Amino acid sequence: MDKTALLWVAIAGSVMEIMSKFVITGGKSLRGEVKVSGAKNAVLPIMAASVMADSVCVLHNAPDLMDVRTMAEILRGLGVKVERTGSEGKTLYIDPTNMQGWIVDEMLMRQVRSSIFLMGPLLAKTGKARVSYPGGCDIGQRPIDLHLKGLKALGATFEEAHGHITAEAKDWSGIDIHLDMPSVGATENIMMGATMAEGVTVIRNAAKEPEIVDLQGFLNAMGAKVRGAGTDVIRIEGVESLKGAEHFVMPDRIEVGTFMVSAAITAGEVYVANAIAEHVQAITSKLREVGTTVATLSKGILVTGSQRCKPTDLKTLPYPGFPTDMQPQMMALLSVAEGTSVISETIFESRFKQAEELGRMGAKIRTEGRTAIIKGVPRLSGAIVEASDLRSGASLVLAGLCAEGRTVVSGIRNLDRGYENFESKLASLGAYIKRQN
Ligand code: EPZ
Repeated sequence: MDKTALLWVAIAGSVMEIMSKFVITGGKSLRGEVKVSGAKNAVLPIMAASVMADSVCVLHNAPDLMDVRTMAEILRGLGVKVERTGSEGKTLYIDPTNMQGWIVDEMLMRQVRSSIFLMGPLLAKTGKARVSYPGGCDIGQRPIDLHLKGLKALGATFEEAHGHITAEAKDWSGIDIHLDMPSVGATENIMMGATMAEGVTVIRNAAKEPEIVDLQGFLNAMGAKVRGAGTDVIRIEGVESLKGAEHFVMPDRIEVGTFMVSAAITAGEVYVANAIAEHVQAITSKLREVGTTVATLSKGILVTGSQRCKPTDLKTLPYPGFPTDMQPQMMALLSVAEGTSVISETIFESRFKQAEELGRMGAKIRTEGRTAIIKGVPRLSGAIVEASDLRSGASLVLAGLCAEGRTVVSGIRNLDRGYENFESKLASLGAYIKRQN
């Protein structure tokens, strides 16, 4: 096929992807067992960290998501070899031995904001990094001031021009830094950069998310000396170099939470076979509060929904508080609760995009700044709705599962960023859901 034909095929493919949607017929109680994929928010920083290795890294249980594919393209642009292998295609083979780049592709970076945490690893490994200023996105500004503050303290100098930030590190030495707020990305960026800094780094008021503990495991397998991930003080002793390592990515706790809500919202019974109960304690306690039965077994979690859930108040907080990435999914559930609930979104300034779309399905939601008041209705009705970001898309799919009639969710490219085989997993639980290109 000549280049022009290939181009047209690529264009047609991306147009179809953009046009693709989920068609859902609601009303079926979900029943059965489901296994979640590896965690998007663990594999992305781990892929960034792999550029610091002086030999091959192998990542098992790596989900095949849009964001992971884009991050792989970014690494290839730096001269890193990245291949998906393994019998089920769940293994990423990453070979950074011939990496020579330090400039992150601007267009690709705009697609995956989290590529900002390539800065720490690139500065540690090459002493240089150029990233484009990641724009805001649908859930808020997403500033990176805490990232830059930490990397500057480690020894980086910055030049900002034409939408790029070019960083250089003449000396790269350990620091004792207190984060103004427990930013997940900033904690990860500084932690990775510090692994090869001269001396000891202490990060105080660090984020405590499980994905940071997973990253610590990978870094230490590479020969780093990191302690304290999962607490608010992380201590890193710099080493000369890091070797390639093998790692099994943790299960995705937000995907676990999403399937827990799918059982609650359809009054079904779903067993999430590879859930780690400790990672979803806040979700478990909130679901129990609204009348859902949650049994945490030795392996996995069994969730049994009630006919109609009770209302509750919900406030998103840094881990171990209730995760902001589960707020839109809970909003869908509370839309059909038998009373009025209040949600306070303390992490991102505009993460209620799903409210308007849920309103098209009959939900009664009023939002004022970071507060949403949800007056539960007995039943939602199917409608044509648009997913504007990853988790609001999940919220609309969950609403469609319990709504009367047919729901069409467009913009599911956003869902493909963070949910692997979402529709087939839901269909395996009995949901009437089809992907339509
Ligand atoms: C990570 O984003 C996750 N993404 C997000 O998941 C998640 O919502 C978020 O942590 C909070 O848990 C990945 O891990 C790839 P933050 P991140 O830095 O690191 C402010 C999803 O749906 N802030 O903890 O960007 C920021 O504006 C995604 O999977 C600064 O002010 O989150 C926000 O209000 C969405 N300055 C708060 O901190 C900074 O330099 C939390 O952001 C950095 C952040």
